[in-house]
Amino acid sequence: MSASVRAILTGTLLLTTFAFASKPNSFSAVDTSGCGLTHAAGYHDADDTNSLQSGGLTRKYGIYVPQSYNDNPNKPRKLILDYHGNNGTPLYQYNNTRYFDYPNGEEYLTQLASTSPGRARQGVDDLQFTTDLLAHLRQTYCIDSNHVYASGKSNGGGFVDFLACSKNGDEFAAFGMASAALYSDNGVEQCNNTRPRAILEAHGMNDTTISYYGGPRNGAMLPDIQTWIGWWAQRDGCKANCADCMEVQQRSGYEVISYSCGGLKDVVQHYDVFDLGHCWPSTTGDNSDSARSYCGDRSLDYTSVVLDSFSRRSLQSTSGQWQEWSI
Ligand SMILES: *[C@@H]1O[C@H](CO)[C@@H](O)[C@H](O)[C@H]1NC(C)=O
Ligand SMILES: *[C@@H]1O[C@H](CO)[C@@H](O)[C@H](O)[C@H]1NC(C)=O
Ligand SMILES: *[C@@H]1O[C@H](CO)[C@@H](O)[C@H](O)[C@H]1NC(C)=O
Repeated sequence: MSASVRAILTGTLLLTTFAFASKPNSFSAVDTSGCGLTHAAGYHDADDTNSLQSGGLTRKYGIYVPQSYNDNPNKPRKLILDYHGNNGTPLYQYNNTRYFDYPNGEEYLTQLASTSPGRARQGVDDLQFTTDLLAHLRQTYCIDSNHVYASGKSNGGGFVDFLACSKNGDEFAAFGMASAALYSDNGVEQCNNTRPRAILEAHGMNDTTISYYGGPRNGAMLPDIQTWIGWWAQRDGCKANCADCMEVQQRSGYEVISYSCGGLKDVVQHYDVFDLGHCWPSTTGDNSDSARSYCGDRSLDYTSVVLDSFSRRSLQSTSGQWQEWSI
């Protein structure tokens, strides 16, 4: 594969694709009608052009198109759907994760979407929006179904968790969150996923918005972060409170808790950052959060952690259904 390309595509619940060959999908279930169309490179903010109808509403999104996109608009691209937090915007989240600043981030189309977990926007079906958005994207861009990922911060992170818990999450190869507001997840049995999920989350221990230790908020009961991470380990095949499946690594300024379950190494990972508030962790502070929250920590370049996690996960499919998940 040439260095500048990779892609991603996804379909509805039945997707297919093949290896990351330089040609689009050979399975009929995948819509590749967006392949071959050219698009201006760079960031395009949410507006009437970047919008779609979903659930009776007009939903807008921002998108980052890799600089190399038009070199071969027939080449399937990896894709990250990146969800912003409460009172955020697609541009705000673009400036938080800054995937575009990373050489390997350039491999991805990044779709920046507005959402919120159920409680914050009652009656808005963001799972359906996500599935509709993917379908819309496949008609507009050339996407590689094996490499579709979700990331998000705060309410956006809580939605990424909700997505991982849902059937709609089957189209995603991995999930990355920061400061996740987990309004919709308060028990190990709460999820509907039938396949393992690669879960990554970072949380500041000085987060005064979404406490590391959980508790009541907005009429819900938020989980303690390490307890919640343990639920995901169980959902992915670990025994409850297993000692041999969990590893803790001390770093300067943070620690990393990793679970390996069912032969899936580091399938659930959590970064707890000691001196960080309600922020997307950054070594430079050069992001939107730094202007709005206590983001005193500079020890963790979380975007590179997320990109590394995504680079190790892909979906494989045969016969029109996702059947294998490799890690
Ligand atoms: C899981 O299924 C239950 C029962 O159908 C539903 O109420 C809930 O919203 C689902 N959760 C997700 C994340 O799909
Ligand atoms: C963050 O927490 C650490 C202890 O974990 C503490 O020393 C530090 O003062 C806290 N910073 C803020 C701004 O609360
Ligand atoms: C991006 O983040 C920087 C650093 O906090 C900030 O100065 C700038 O205003 C932000 N831009 C946007 C569009 O949020």
